[in-house]
Amino acid sequence: MARPQSRFVCQACGASTLRWEGQCRACGEWNTLVETLVRDGARRPSAARPAAGAEPRPLAGEAEPEPGRGSTGIGELDRVLGGGLVAGSVVLLGGEPGIGKSTLVMEAAAGVAQRGQAGVLYASGEESVGQLRLRARRLGVLEGEAGRRILALAETDVERVVERAVSLMPDLVVVDSIQTMRVDGLEGPAGSVGQVREAAARLADHAKSAGVPLILVGHVTKDGSLAGPRTLEHLVDAVLTLEGDRSGSLRLLRAAKNRFGSTEEIGVFEMAGAGLRQVPDPARAFLGDHREAAPGVSVAATLEGSRPLLVEVQVLVAPAAYGTPRRTASGVDANRLALLTAVLGRRAGIGVGAQDLYVSLAGGIAVAEPGLDLAVALAVASAVRDRPVAADLVACGEIGLLGEVRPVAGLERRLREAARLGFRRAVVPGGQVGDVGGIELLQVADLRAAVEAALAPSRRGVPVGGASAG
Ligand code: TYD
Ligand code: MG
Repeated sequence: MARPQSRFVCQACGASTLRWEGQCRACGEWNTLVETLVRDGARRPSAARPAAGAEPRPLAGEAEPEPGRGSTGIGELDRVLGGGLVAGSVVLLGGEPGIGKSTLVMEAAAGVAQRGQAGVLYASGEESVGQLRLRARRLGVLEGEAGRRILALAETDVERVVERAVSLMPDLVVVDSIQTMRVDGLEGPAGSVGQVREAAARLADHAKSAGVPLILVGHVTKDGSLAGPRTLEHLVDAVLTLEGDRSGSLRLLRAAKNRFGSTEEIGVFEMAGAGLRQVPDPARAFLGDHREAAPGVSVAATLEGSRPLLVEVQVLVAPAAYGTPRRTASGVDANRLALLTAVLGRRAGIGVGAQDLYVSLAGGIAVAEPGLDLAVALAVASAVRDRPVAADLVACGEIGLLGEVRPVAGLERRLREAARLGFRRAVVPGGQVGDVGGIELLQVADLRAAVEAALAPSRRGVPVGGASAG
């Protein structure tokens, strides 16, 4: 038997080298190389490989059947998955600790257990069976049929989890979390890149060969730096992330990768006393609470996948205490914000100057969509001028370096949603849409015109309703 081999594995990207180095050559991160011993016995048996090898076949042959999909019983989760769980697929659910991953997978396990016959294997390396039972009781799953069909297994040895999955042949396997799983014979602590990758590979092998869907839970810290999930992305079929402001109750589920569906759809949940609740009207979830016009507030008509969301942008400007003024953005890209304030100053004559600037989106949502630009610029202008944007007005448009307001995708869909939620006027790029029922269009070519159209004339404190037009 060969003597154990040692490799230095980057904990950020998974690249390995034979010698220790201060900086990873693959990803450029510092101090991320960790010595990992790979014993010969740890070589994965090539179970997934058919004995005779596969025959190449012409692409245009008999049609393969569509992959079978099963509902998780949670509409928002099915939506993000692309229409339910695909048989034999591997889904990685990432998110910060405490965001609600275990809650979501327990609810999904209950949904699958309720619909199937064979039950769900829920392997946890984080919690004891007693703790799982407590959560299940809180979620109302313990008493029903699902409570009998979810088989809880407190286990950290991956081989044992696979053994159970092989003997039970459940409808779904859940592993919470992949960072707690260990592969016997592989050095390195649970959670190190080598362990996480090997453990996931073995579980995925089983999922593929048995045709049983697998959900892996993975912790990711705010900067995404923790070992594991990022190195797994190529190995799994779908990467979902659960995000949101932990102090708030709204949670967003997104697909960062999805072999069986779009990566644009999002799911919106609310963390309640008895688990994650689907938000009945997601379009208005990020509108904030007050409906009074106030300086520094504007509403953007954004589009996430096929779902229009109205998002409230809040801006505060305040005299800088000392030194360099602060620019704090939450939910908005900081570089984008810098660009927008520069364009506002140069092209619309509204300078933030040496003041501190704070920007955030209501409900802890993060939006990376260009259609948000105009609403952010208007909220900044409103804060600087100390004049409110009318409360019945939405904005939508991308802003270019010359201050021009550019068209955005799906404008009509956004506007129809805004009209449904009671908005009466919209500042939009010129010439893009003709007429949308129930909402007056203020078509603008550039930022200067948009500011003029959106900021109420300088009578401060007037309750701005639908009466005053453009
Ligand atoms: P959890 O699913 O354990 O998070 P994760 O697995 O991502 O670490 O949930 C964490 C938080 O959610 C916890 O602080 C308590 C809260 N919570 C509720 O508010 N309602 C509930 O029904 C449950 C189960 C949890
Ligand atoms: Mg958990």
